[in-house]
Amino acid sequence: MEELKWSFQASARESGEKAGTQLFARHEVDKARSFHRSFAAYRETPLVNLRQLSAHLGVAGIYVKDESFRFGLNAFKVLGGSYAIGNYLAQRLGMDIAELSFERLRSGEVKQLLGEVTFTSATDGNHGRGVAWAAQQLGQKAVIYMPKGSAQERLGHILSTGAEGYITDLNYDDAVRLAAANAREHGWVVIQDTAWEGYYDIPVWIMQGYTTMAAEAIEQLRVQGVDKPTHVFLQAGVGSYAGAIQGVLAAMFPEERPITVIVEPDQADCLYQSSLAKDRRPRAVTGDLDTIMAGLACGEPNPIAWELLRDYADAFVSCPDYIAAQGMRILGNPLGNDARIISGESGAVTTGLLDRIMRDERLRTVRERLQLDEHSRVLLFSTEGDTDSQAYRRIVWDGAYPLPGA
Ligand SMILES: Cc1ncc(COP(=O)(O)O)c(C=O)c1O
Repeated sequence: MEELKWSFQASARESGEKAGTQLFARHEVDKARSFHRSFAAYRETPLVNLRQLSAHLGVAGIYVKDESFRFGLNAFKVLGGSYAIGNYLAQRLGMDIAELSFERLRSGEVKQLLGEVTFTSATDGNHGRGVAWAAQQLGQKAVIYMPKGSAQERLGHILSTGAEGYITDLNYDDAVRLAAANAREHGWVVIQDTAWEGYYDIPVWIMQGYTTMAAEAIEQLRVQGVDKPTHVFLQAGVGSYAGAIQGVLAAMFPEERPITVIVEPDQADCLYQSSLAKDRRPRAVTGDLDTIMAGLACGEPNPIAWELLRDYADAFVSCPDYIAAQGMRILGNPLGNDARIISGESGAVTTGLLDRIMRDERLRTVRERLQLDEHSRVLLFSTEGDTDSQAYRRIVWDGAYPLPGA
């Protein structure tokens, strides 16, 4: 398929110096998970085994982690924002997050010690909703900025937590700069899901927060009799979530790491572009970043995530929007008695891609190169539900963004 652009990284399997994975070591993952467990709203999200789809596509297993159930917020992102806010408050108290539960952080005693804190962020919606929700739960304030074209429904969810929220006329990366400038002016705390020079701790905590999802998935696979996945497909915006999961996989399986594929929209494929660069330094993509995958519409890689993906990811792929639409339709209309998964554009692109790789004969060499066959057990993360429900229906009911030639 011409429209899919691939960059394979043979160097990921070569020995040599690679980015450290200590931030994603077992004890860090356990720490994030115990913090999340201390929330009253905490439940593991389901790991759905799509048996019929696996048989249909010719692999041994397709396991989809359904993050639409995360804390009732319809996306995984709250794992990062809440853990960063928790760590920030712990640091202000001179304590380690391991000593502090969610209940303790929201207690009157802590509020009295710290006073009122305002958290701010720029977001396509999912991250901001998580930050706004966590701030509300902890009795603090939030101000959220969204890029132009953001869905009103997503803004509505943010406002319903009591946060301030605005749809700006900026793209995502400029909205990040606006949040940072306003924070400097008003003394707010930036909870941004990407790093830059001098801004490191909070994005690391956000990435560590995402590891709860990987830890749950690996445990759930084991309960289903699967030692580890052979393949993991990870969709990426700035790459924080993909980098975090890649970090966990590299730390957990140092010998036989699963094959990882990093998936981006072709209008915002900054990691794919970075992977092509001779000097292996991160590259930015600019412009409107116009894609239906709103959560992945980011033009500048998180440098911490980039180093992990650069050294350990096996392939990067740049995808047209119709791949995401196809994934949404497949997950929403399951075969036989496979469970139905309501997956939004950014959540479903990896399923759409797996379907194309396995069913489109023009992708045979990709299939072979990735060693995807009847022995493969593929782990996918449906990172959001129908966070823009009108767009969801346009795609799943009305067939918007069809596969070319369909
Ligand atoms: C639903 C969804 N999936 C995936 C991502 C990608 O995460 P990251 O920006 O860390 O790459 C996002 C980011 O907002 C998202 O909202």
